[in-house]
Amino acid sequence: MDLTVIVPTFNEGPNVAELLRRLGSSLEGREFEVVFVDDSTDDTPDIIRVVAAGVDFPVRLIHRDEPVAGLGGAVLEGFRAADSRWCLVMDGDLQHPPEDIPRMLDRAAVGDVDIVVASRYVAGGTAGGLANATRTAVSRASTVLTKSMFPRKLHGCTDPMTGFFLVDRDAIDLDSLRPRGFKILLEILARRQLRIGEVPFAFATRYAGESKATFTQGIRFLTQLTMLRFGRMSAFALVGGVGAIANLVIMWGLIRLGMGYIPAAIIASEVTIIGNFLLLEYLVFRDMRADSGSMWMRFIKSFAFNNVEAVVRISVLPLLVQAHIPSVLAAAITLAAAFVVRFVYHALWVYAPKRVSANAATPAVRESRSRTLES
Ligand code: GDD
Ligand code: MN
Repeated sequence: MDLTVIVPTFNEGPNVAELLRRLGSSLEGREFEVVFVDDSTDDTPDIIRVVAAGVDFPVRLIHRDEPVAGLGGAVLEGFRAADSRWCLVMDGDLQHPPEDIPRMLDRAAVGDVDIVVASRYVAGGTAGGLANATRTAVSRASTVLTKSMFPRKLHGCTDPMTGFFLVDRDAIDLDSLRPRGFKILLEILARRQLRIGEVPFAFATRYAGESKATFTQGIRFLTQLTMLRFGRMSAFALVGGVGAIANLVIMWGLIRLGMGYIPAAIIASEVTIIGNFLLLEYLVFRDMRADSGSMWMRFIKSFAFNNVEAVVRISVLPLLVQAHIPSVLAAAITLAAAFVVRFVYHALWVYAPKRVSANAATPAVRESRSRTLES
């Protein structure tokens, strides 16, 4: 079986030589290539070029000057560029030991699965390399949550959050993947029912450098989960819900400070309009930003709409209050009514594609893709 090893890297210079050395000795005697998909802002690409020149297997470097969709987007780009049908995805920091790859290949060679997941949570595996108790707990909890949301598709996968897996590229529909952030495996498994095999592995500690996981990545993961399970409108609703609560809390606080309910509602709305826009940009419509023009245009459209909407909403408020509905409850009713209109407007107009995306592929990538199609 031939193999493409896909390694997403972000500032992993000090790990490159050791990674290639251990890959070389673990896969000795096999046909394989290594593809680095690199978004680094430091000298990692130079290091990769130098080290690659000294090894006896093919190493390719795809450096993205304008990275799309972070780690997940990098892996997708790797799939598109891969020369082999079987693709192994692994981190570049040696938390995924190259010595485990032969066992994964053996499992795939049995021929009854589309994907082999290296799992920390199957008998014989360990998650010892997670940085601390908090991360272990977060990993465990999000695994349970994720599995409960996709009970059928993730049946047979104990570790949908791992970044270490071997997949038959022909079994996945690359165009259906909407990677955002770290959890590309989840994206793959949730889109289409795959036949899953697992092998245990011990998640190691980082060889060098620092983890790029952040709190933002965690939030992005929750958005991804919501979108995969319930679609964009629920993610939009979630953001709207958070905004509405913030709106009401601010309004309530200002009234408590002695402000009239109308100015309180105005200030609360302006603050949440801006906050909401940022959440839409960075969470709900993140994947549509690149194709929908400038952020300023979107902000102006969104801001204008929300203000018109707020004016309408706030002028309806006195009517409801006169009908003896408490002011905060009345505000809640009008916010709920505005929700659907706002979603339709944003999905169809603010984030409407301005041009057809070329999948952000580099010429080299497109070339190897058409080669795959011909063969
Ligand atoms: N190209 C690219 N672009 N690579 C990235 C980016 C990015 O924006 N962000 C991170 N990476 C690379 C890192 O350089 C590393 O090789 C790999 O992705 C994983 O990133 P780490 O910073 O080491 O993350 P981690 O160790 O916290 O997370 C890993 O463990 C999780 C399981 O707990 C990842 O493997 C996750 O995929 C995995 O789910
Ligand atoms: Mn890591």
